[in-house]
Amino acid sequence: MRTSTLITALWLILAAAGCSRPEFRPGAVWTDTDGAVINAHGGGILYDEGRYYWFGEHKTAGEAGNLAQVGVHCYSSENLYDWRDEGIALAVAPEGSGSPIEKGCILERPKVIRNARTGKYVMWFHLEPKGAGYTGALSGVAVSDRATGPYTFLRAGRPDAGVYPVNALPQHFGKSRAAGMRFDGGSLPEHPDSLNLVGRDAAQGQMARDMTLFVDDDGRAYHIYSSEENSTLHISELTDDYLAHSGRYARFFAGRFMEAPALFKRGGRYYLMMSGCTGWAPNAARSAVAESIWGPWRELGNPCEGPGAETTYDSQSTFVVPVAGTDRFIYMGDRWNPADAADGRYVWLPVRFEGDGFRVEWCDRWRWEE
Ligand code: DGJ
Repeated sequence: MRTSTLITALWLILAAAGCSRPEFRPGAVWTDTDGAVINAHGGGILYDEGRYYWFGEHKTAGEAGNLAQVGVHCYSSENLYDWRDEGIALAVAPEGSGSPIEKGCILERPKVIRNARTGKYVMWFHLEPKGAGYTGALSGVAVSDRATGPYTFLRAGRPDAGVYPVNALPQHFGKSRAAGMRFDGGSLPEHPDSLNLVGRDAAQGQMARDMTLFVDDDGRAYHIYSSEENSTLHISELTDDYLAHSGRYARFFAGRFMEAPALFKRGGRYYLMMSGCTGWAPNAARSAVAESIWGPWRELGNPCEGPGAETTYDSQSTFVVPVAGTDRFIYMGDRWNPADAADGRYVWLPVRFEGDGFRVEWCDRWRWEE
């Protein structure tokens, strides 16, 4: 028998015996180690003491599943392919409790970081109190002594009340022309700086919707979120314990309507992957690079290539995972299904660095090691 035939035969025998190597299959149904469909949408990954923890929105079937009926689901893994169900890390409060995280609220894009000084695990998420659509634009914070939880909800509010961004323009300290006006979250009648949305919200705190967290090498943590009616991205420093905002923040990409931010760092450079703002429908991704998290940020365009690039391969960014101990990064996106929320899929793809920026390419099946 020829060697190649022998290898193929061996591979088929191993595959039949369930010994095939694990791999990513973007967009396919992805089951956990018990065979149940993974339910962690708009998620992010924490790497802690040799394990990865995936936190995401637990969605239920149908349209009602877009509201938080259960809470934040946690899974853990050693290899990023096989995920063990760790249960609900943050549960919604019972209906009628009046809690800001009452069942039926909107609780999106949860992310968890660990504070090395306090040893606590800190979760932040986008929160919209029940029954008010997306008008609240609040941020919720919860804390736990264990990565998997349970997390205790601390409070929800608007970041940076009473302070102006470090890169505020002179007009931001003046009167806002937006008072009393209503916006659709995807467009503005004029530029956010001429409306002065920052000034409008300075006293009560800035709007914060789609979000991520990032911990820098010096232990400083940042909350990155779509603000100013989604028109402008804010990067806001957290306090030393990560439980509040320090009051130091900056605004970027004014008027560009960036959603779904994912911030990562490689070789001393900061990168952002983001989407445009088209509700649950996918659109072309955007990317940017900076030498400092405080900017200036330079937009680099759509990092995706080939068929499907215009819709980010029918997905929207939620996180970019640095693979521990390697120079590999994984794009983590959601393929939303708003009509049947629980059937949203996960699109994980390799990130490759090229010139000043990075690229995300479609693969039907792939392994991060190769
Ligand atoms: C797009 C956001 O990225 C999602 O997290 C969600 O808020 C939807 N909009 C709601 O339409």
